[in-house]
Amino acid sequence: MAETLRRLAALVGALGAAVAVFLSSGVSAMAAQPSDVTPFIVGGSRVSTSTYPWVVHLTTASGFQFCGGTLVRPNKVVTAAHCTAGDSPSAVRVVAGRDDKQSTAGVVAKVTRIWVHPRYDVEAGNDVSVLTLDRNLPNATLPLASGSDTALYAPGTNATILGWGTTREGGSASRYLLGATVPVTSDSYCASAYPREFAARGEVCAGYERGGTDTCQGDSGGPLAAGGKLIGVTSWGQGCARAGKPGVYARVSAHHAALSEQLDS
Ligand code: ARG
Repeated sequence: MAETLRRLAALVGALGAAVAVFLSSGVSAMAAQPSDVTPFIVGGSRVSTSTYPWVVHLTTASGFQFCGGTLVRPNKVVTAAHCTAGDSPSAVRVVAGRDDKQSTAGVVAKVTRIWVHPRYDVEAGNDVSVLTLDRNLPNATLPLASGSDTALYAPGTNATILGWGTTREGGSASRYLLGATVPVTSDSYCASAYPREFAARGEVCAGYERGGTDTCQGDSGGPLAAGGKLIGVTSWGQGCARAGKPGVYARVSAHHAALSEQLDS
């Protein structure tokens, strides 16, 4: 009986995660990607967790990858609230040091606690969450950007996006870790791309005006990194890699105090 209940709970958790990924996809995929675009992250290439030891992916208890994350303490992962909201800790695993989702490389940690930003919702943004792991991982951690890191948010700053998500709008998830570089945009550009949705205080955009390179479904929760710090958490976008529609990231510096409180507790 207990086993049946556990399985049911796991199934509900998995569905929750799948629904979260689906709901967060924004406007659904319509336009096909031009055939000359390299089908990676969107517009990226294969990279390794040995170069980026702090990038992790989240799976259900049965091993389905649904989001990304960043190791910021040996036992703490920052991810997106829309990845974890409503999940029970027992339904989530954190996989570190595994480039190929089909391999057994690296470490799988269990989650003992999930913190979701108390003011997270679709309008306000605040799409950040902290997972506490059942152990300390040996991997290097990435520091959070703070209020004094304004230079890292200057328009044109090159930032790294990483993830195991889909390689084009409406496509399927990547088996391997992919990465790409995208420039941080100005807030005014992002506000003109998303006049109703962009919450400048707590969000930052990144991407080329021409599109072509972006995070996509399944990359959520993963890092936007620059200057050796975590500056953003992959959150949403209209479609993926569309011209004039940059990716939107939770602005880590704006959430520094709330996140830090969770890391040191
Ligand atoms: N919300 C998506 C997820 O759950 C990430 C979407 C990012 N989209 C974008 N165009 N940058 O995986």
